[in-house]
Amino acid sequence: MASDLAASVRALEAIGHAARYFPTTGSTNDDARAWAAAGAPSGAIVLADEQTAGRGRHGRTWSAPVGASLALSIVTRPDVAPSRLAPLAIVAGLAVREAIAPRLAHRRVRVKWPNDVVVGEKKIAGVLVEASLSGRAVDHAIVGIGVNVNRSSFPEEIAHRATSLSLEGARDPDLDRTAIALDVVRAFDRALVEWLADPEALGARLAPHDALRDVAVQLEDGRRGVAVGLEGDGRLRVRLDDGALVLALAGEVVPVPRARRDAASPNDHGDG
Ligand code: BTN
Repeated sequence: MASDLAASVRALEAIGHAARYFPTTGSTNDDARAWAAAGAPSGAIVLADEQTAGRGRHGRTWSAPVGASLALSIVTRPDVAPSRLAPLAIVAGLAVREAIAPRLAHRRVRVKWPNDVVVGEKKIAGVLVEASLSGRAVDHAIVGIGVNVNRSSFPEEIAHRATSLSLEGARDPDLDRTAIALDVVRAFDRALVEWLADPEALGARLAPHDALRDVAVQLEDGRRGVAVGLEGDGRLRVRLDDGALVLALAGEVVPVPRARRDAASPNDHGDG
């Protein structure tokens, strides 16, 4: 049977995006990067039903049963300095949130810095941005997006922190991956234009959907504080317990485990 996702190529072309679909591939990010190196225009999209070497951040694998998830990569050629590229993952995360939230009208869908989309405390989608430079400038950045769509279970080690549209109660036609892909891409197109026009405004756009807002976090050096939003360059703003404000890069900060958080500060809140 033809995949519902195969239909997305025509649909994406109809809204102005070059697109390629593979029933199976290693990683759509690799395909998009090769296409970009061969001259793919900004906005070109690669989708696949199955990835045999899907990647997440920090070299983690990103796996998904065939047909149960959306794996897509977008070629972008943003005119920004490499040091200003980090927020692109949040731009994409907000676009994914915008696309899937109406399919989960009864649930709160939020973006968790630096690259996750979550329902409650469980991850429903992830973003992996990989940039290629030309000299000191960005030649292209591949925005890889994985959304758990019609997935009924996860391996035991991640089951407590992963979810899918179907597990959260979405049903057909809200699980149609072509429709989701189109909504994600349309939302991303808008979000990218807005971000490039005013990079500093991204923090305000994230704020209402910020899963880390007011969450207790710990820096690498052990100092504790509370996440208070996004800096324009993509760093997390952390208000330390002593009142100082510091900016943290991804990987330099972790949420304080809930048990210790509750013990330390009974008024802390999150959801789930
Ligand atoms: C993460 O949460 O760590 C990021 C996950 C990104 C997964 C997507 S699926 C499409 C694209 N191709 C990949 O190999 N990875 C991204």
